[in-house]
Amino acid sequence: MRSIALAHLFAQDPQRAQRCVASVEGVRLDYSRQRVDGQVVQQLLLLAEERGLAEWRAALFAGEPINTTEQRAVGHTALRAAEAAPAPVRTTLAQMHRLAQRLRGEGRVRRIVHLGTGGSALGPQLIVDALGTHDTDLEIAFAANIDALDLERALTGAQPETTLFVVVSKTFTTAETLANARTALRWLGGRDSARHFIAVTGNEAAARAFGIDEVLPLPEAVGGRFSLWSAAGLSALCAIGAARFDALLAGARDIDRHFAAAPFGENLPVLMALLGVWNVNFLGAATHAVLPYAHALRLLPAYLQQLEMESNGKCVDREDRALDYATAPVLWGAEGTLGQHSFHQLLHQGTQAVPADFVVAAVSAELDTNAEAQAQALAFGTTDASLPPHRRHPGNRPSSTIRIERLDARNLGRLLALYEHKVFAQGVIWNINSFDQWGVELGKALARRILAKGA
Ligand code: F6P
Repeated sequence: MRSIALAHLFAQDPQRAQRCVASVEGVRLDYSRQRVDGQVVQQLLLLAEERGLAEWRAALFAGEPINTTEQRAVGHTALRAAEAAPAPVRTTLAQMHRLAQRLRGEGRVRRIVHLGTGGSALGPQLIVDALGTHDTDLEIAFAANIDALDLERALTGAQPETTLFVVVSKTFTTAETLANARTALRWLGGRDSARHFIAVTGNEAAARAFGIDEVLPLPEAVGGRFSLWSAAGLSALCAIGAARFDALLAGARDIDRHFAAAPFGENLPVLMALLGVWNVNFLGAATHAVLPYAHALRLLPAYLQQLEMESNGKCVDREDRALDYATAPVLWGAEGTLGQHSFHQLLHQGTQAVPADFVVAAVSAELDTNAEAQAQALAFGTTDASLPPHRRHPGNRPSSTIRIERLDARNLGRLLALYEHKVFAQGVIWNINSFDQWGVELGKALARRILAKGA
């Protein structure tokens, strides 16, 4: 397959563009420009079976402790299970809805400043950036960086009397978030913190010790990067309103059902996972570009960087044996069409082929057409032999197109859940635990040690 050209695959099979497609309501995956033929897809589907994906998937949904290094279940799908959700999840969701209704209605708060980092920020920020605020004058700002400028900017134009800080931290020990929360407290100038702070955390005692009265729980079984559906999404709920937040959850639930039931060959997250494995482990790709052709999805690459790389950037398997095969590629990207005027040069003519996801959302004909043109140029390159080498495009660079019918809350929920299950399925194929993140700890400990020495 390394030497087979995509142009040849299309010439061989006139139905390819129609055949290499899988859909679920609202979302369509076109993988015709991936360097696979029918036989490769069959082999990859077998690989998924051999690796026990069906059994792992059942274990995920059954709440078994598949996060083995931490002896935890993996609970993000339960957060959007509606009436099938466990009672504590429904209670928290109801509490969030009451709070959001109050904040959106009463007018006391004008600005919500969400303090959190990593999974405690990226998801909610993406939702607010993508869907905007609806039927409310509330302004929503985010501060994640320990660099004081971040919070300073989030507070520009805000008044202490009408500002509410939502501190989101599963552990309530994250240095950046706590530093920002302490700065916020000082900025309030002695005002009653109970009126100006809400915490969302799995460490209620620490939040109360900080002086916060209103504390919403984060379940232990939900990792930060999978938590936007939980109370971590409170600021997003305040921005987009109850109906849209419910639609977001419903969209994710649609994909949970699809992932749980669709045969692997028609199962979007499974196909996305297998194509990624093919590109990394068989074609040798080291990176993966995500190119959303929608300004509203400009934060998607940053969100997916954590989701994919924190989950699957691992070098030992579930049995703690060193791996002799590659796992997650470096994920990167930026909104189309901006990238076309900068890094796409490398995508088209660089020395390494970078597999790409074009995420298209029917925002405008210009955007969709540009995505299509880029994907075609990558796949087929130039055929004009009279061109000098520096003007030729080698082509044969793989990409998928993920088309969402319309950019709304439900489809956004679907899109994000698709990637969540893709990540899970890849973790199963690589036999790694996608749900821990021990790799982030050493740097934190060293920073503490270095700081202590300097003090
Ligand atoms: O340091 C990494 C990390 O623990 C992420 O896994 C997490 O999303 C982020 O930091 C924030 O953690 P917390 O919610 O505990 O503040």
